[in-house]
Amino acid sequence: MQIFGVDIGGSGIKGAPVDLDKGDLAQERHKVLTPHPATPDAVADGVRQVVGHFGWTGPVGVTFPGVVTDGATIRTAANVDDSWIDTDARALLGERLGGLPVTVVNDADAAGVAEMHFGAGRDRRGTVILLTFGTGIGSAVFVDGVLVPNTELGHLELDGHDAEKRASSKAREDHDMTWEHWAEHRVRKYLAHVEMLFSPELFIIGGGVSRKSHKFLPHIEGIKAEIVPAQLQNNAGIVGAAMRAAGR
Ligand code: BGC
Repeated sequence: MQIFGVDIGGSGIKGAPVDLDKGDLAQERHKVLTPHPATPDAVADGVRQVVGHFGWTGPVGVTFPGVVTDGATIRTAANVDDSWIDTDARALLGERLGGLPVTVVNDADAAGVAEMHFGAGRDRRGTVILLTFGTGIGSAVFVDGVLVPNTELGHLELDGHDAEKRASSKAREDHDMTWEHWAEHRVRKYLAHVEMLFSPELFIIGGGVSRKSHKFLPHIEGIKAEIVPAQLQNNAGIVGAAMRAAGR
């Protein structure tokens, strides 16, 4: 069975039909740049271009980098335009896609659902936390495989700051930190804080940096939980969005 997945990120809007049996993209993904300012109207147009590229006419799952309730309503917008807040994204995108059924889900929750089913979290019980390090920090918390949605652990306070401003991948780039410095002084401290609160069995590290885990994971010491990179890497959001749209 195939469903279309779209991942709305800080830099790109990416999508492809997803093979839900394999947990993989059924075709090579198509990407357009995220417009700036990332207003609902401009982003919806990007989503239309990505879905239209494939001539897709079935259900569509879409990730959003903020809190999403009931598969539809946007509640927060830390790294996209504030005018998203209280937007019915399901209605907006559905209309822009010519009436296709749309489900919207938080980006980290989507990535987590895909990793728990097809990737690094497969068959893992207990508390598992996926954290995505990108423009912000996203979180997905699972207890015995069941998602607690919209956890927003990227906005915990770390050293008196919003944690994602200190420890995201963007923070590393903006402040020219080496991988080692970022890992030891930012990510390790952040993981220690999350561990103090939740005592998970496993941390899965997702987002664009999961491809480069050899550069920073060896520098993270003193965390009791096992720490592994995400396996679906940058496609986890697309796959998870499609899974949510299929009701999984
Ligand atoms: C948002 C989260 C999102 C994360 C990653 C945070 O700023 O609040 O909802 O999952 O960024 O995009």
